[in-house]
Amino acid sequence: MNAAKLTDGIYKVGVNLPATKLFEGLWPIPKGASINGFVVQGDSIALIDLVQDFQTLPEEYQQELTELGIEQSKVSYLIVNHMEPDHTGWLGKFIKKNPHVKIYCTSKTVPMLASFYDVADNIVPIKTGDTLDLGQGKVLEFFETPNVHWPETMMVFERSSGILFSCDAFGSYGAVDNAKSFDDSVDEDKLKEYENEALRYYSNIVAAFSPFVTRAIKQLESLPIKMIAPSHGLIWRKDISRIIELYRTFAEYATTAGDKNSITLVWGSMYGNTEKALDAVREAVKEANITLYEHRAPDEEIGMALSDIWRSKGIILAMPTYEYQMFPPIAHVLDDCNRKKMFHKHCLRIGSFGWVGGAEKEVKVWGERLKWNMQPSIEWAGTPSEVELQKIKEGVRALIASMHATQTIEA
Ligand SMILES: Cc1cc2nc3c(=O)[nH]c(=O)nc-3n(C[C@H](O)[C@H](O)[C@H](O)COP(=O)(O)O)c2cc1C
Ligand SMILES: [Fe+2]
Ligand SMILES: [Fe+2]
Repeated sequence: MNAAKLTDGIYKVGVNLPATKLFEGLWPIPKGASINGFVVQGDSIALIDLVQDFQTLPEEYQQELTELGIEQSKVSYLIVNHMEPDHTGWLGKFIKKNPHVKIYCTSKTVPMLASFYDVADNIVPIKTGDTLDLGQGKVLEFFETPNVHWPETMMVFERSSGILFSCDAFGSYGAVDNAKSFDDSVDEDKLKEYENEALRYYSNIVAAFSPFVTRAIKQLESLPIKMIAPSHGLIWRKDISRIIELYRTFAEYATTAGDKNSITLVWGSMYGNTEKALDAVREAVKEANITLYEHRAPDEEIGMALSDIWRSKGIILAMPTYEYQMFPPIAHVLDDCNRKKMFHKHCLRIGSFGWVGGAEKEVKVWGERLKWNMQPSIEWAGTPSEVELQKIKEGVRALIASMHATQTIEA
């Protein structure tokens, strides 16, 4: 791919992870994921972020530099916004080949450069407000933005162009063709697809750090930003408020617990007895004009369900008892909710059992751990009766009333 031009002297050097790869070795990316590095060229040249050392990605990155006429020996600075190896995997090899390059990063990055890549020289730790003048009017200003995503993360603002290199913040999954790198290079349908991929990316990668995202957005408010260039996904220039507001909303779900007009149904069923109750759930949700997202475990990847769980204030867990406990794949989903700090939701659990049940005890423990507001559970032996189906509908109505009644605020 050819590098994409952001403005005179500033380019994106972008590559794509294939759809077959799992992001972080864990999260499915059926639409791929881009890794965006950048070049800022004044009298001297700076690279902002490198690339993962995976398959041919470093070669592709280098090829794009070459096509721009940039020799690596002429690069003076490497700006490391974030040490996660999707952006630094190739750093050790790059620095070995180009030991003259000065690395700009936060102080927390310094020991990580040594432990990850055995790099200890030519490092300049920065503080918020520090600048690097590249000549020809190009000035990089640094902002420490800890925990968006790792503790050492920072962002860079190029003053003459108003471009914010925001690293993982404002990023999304989804491969990007360098020829269509901007929010105005794609149609509305494709933009919506990237926004969905942004939600998936957020819920998988960033959700646990939401208070830091909110803080970073506040910190950047006073900057005259004209373009947002994240390290994953599209570059925003036509409507930067669209991605800022989207991320602001995603981060706010940490305190609002999600959209009060959305419910995510996470369900599993061995022989169909629990599944038989799902139409009652669907009907009651539809009657109330509430959006319902559905995910079956373990058939669907948890990475897919987490985005809908994150954006929904209401959760319905439908599962049978299995060896005196919860159906195991749902326990796995709840464990991930806890790790991603998806707290304060409103929840109804329904499910079938064969003899004496047992899932309920474990559901209670999870409800407390997640600080979820739990409706009384509805359980039945074997197949659900008409009476039980009516009870389920009432349970769903009570859940919705509870979602609408409570303003959840983080303690
Ligand atoms: C491996 C296995 C373990 C089970 N463990 C329990 C149990 O501990 N307690 C119980 O009451 N029923 C247990 N059951 C019975 C199921 O909960 C019951 O068949 C239920 O109707 C299954 O619902 P489903 O068809 O939605 O999977 C178990 C069934 C299986 C296959
Ligand atoms: Fe990251
Ligand atoms: Fe990243």
